[in-house]
Amino acid sequence: MISGVTGHMNGDHTDDNLLIARAFGYPGATASAMVGVTEAAGLWRVTDADGEHELSVAWPGGPISERPEIRREVVALYTAACAKLGVPARGEHEEPASSHHGAGDAADETHGDRAAHREEAAEGADAADRPFSVVIRESSWSDHSDSEGATFMEDIMRGKGSLQDYIDLVAQHYFMYEALEAAADRVAGDPRFAGFHTPSLVRLPALEADLAHLIGADWRDRIVAVPATLEYAARMREVAAEGWVAGVVAHHYTRYLGDLSGGQYIAKRVAKQHGLPGAGIAFYDFAELGDLAEFKNRYRAALDVLGAQLDADERARMLDEVRTAYAFNTAVFRDLGQAKLAAA
Ligand code: HEM
Repeated sequence: MISGVTGHMNGDHTDDNLLIARAFGYPGATASAMVGVTEAAGLWRVTDADGEHELSVAWPGGPISERPEIRREVVALYTAACAKLGVPARGEHEEPASSHHGAGDAADETHGDRAAHREEAAEGADAADRPFSVVIRESSWSDHSDSEGATFMEDIMRGKGSLQDYIDLVAQHYFMYEALEAAADRVAGDPRFAGFHTPSLVRLPALEADLAHLIGADWRDRIVAVPATLEYAARMREVAAEGWVAGVVAHHYTRYLGDLSGGQYIAKRVAKQHGLPGAGIAFYDFAELGDLAEFKNRYRAALDVLGAQLDADERARMLDEVRTAYAFNTAVFRDLGQAKLAAA
């Protein structure tokens, strides 16, 4: 009987297991499987950068005795997890979210439903009761899952990536941040950008130091951008050349808030696996920013201010650009995965 419940959770609700793990003890969880049910709690086996953990989460409604109560309590846990993490919960009538895990598609393929999504986004962006930062996060969370779940990234997080994989990723970051930080410089004088950029965010010097450490003094001659990275960098340059501030913010948000969130777990995982105590992972060190959670909250407040200055179309266009930025990241992982296969 119990194996039926856990089997269903692990087969059809893999993403729900992950959300529950992240909300109730392991914010950096990269995998989570339901392994048991007791009268008092559900049990999960969770993987994060530190390894595997047993997680027991008490049923929100108190101890249970009948099988149908399990479903009710698991749904209540899922809903509470979504509320805690600020991600939209599915309606009861909807199918479970599919597992997004798999290499991503190219930016243009991923967004085949762009028009429909834009309409939804425009409505969402107009919802006066929801801060723009929340709308951005919610409308792009499935794209986040695609990026995070790309095989190349998952391999790194599961300790299956080689040091060379990590070096290849750092090299892509170099080309991305060369474009991103030039884009930020181009709009730096615009007052609407003032709340977003601060010198302590700048990553290029840290990336140069990491690459010199990982590859050697001639690192610049030995790194190559994969095609998706070139397209991604070109898009950031294009947005900046247009002087489209909200577009630059879309790219700025997707990279920097990611580095300050999941990036911190990536650093932990890579440092542990490859013995890189500081040199080689300087890119992820944002100590100069102070408390990262507070910084992210100030950043989200700046997004809310920007959202209030944009009209509904501009907000929808910016949401689209955030999704495009995620799709580029997913495509970079796909290209890195293909290059790795080709080299094997
Ligand atoms: C293994 C890979 C990843 C993991 C484990 C991960 C995990 C997370 C977690 C736990 C959060 C929520 C943190 C919080 O609310 O404070 C988060 C937020 C975020 N992540 Fe990731 N992430 C990964 C990959 C990525 C990638 C590849 C990108 C895009 C380049 C990205 C972009 C973001 C952004 C923009 C946010 C902020 C969302 C918001 O609050 O508005 N993440 N990530």
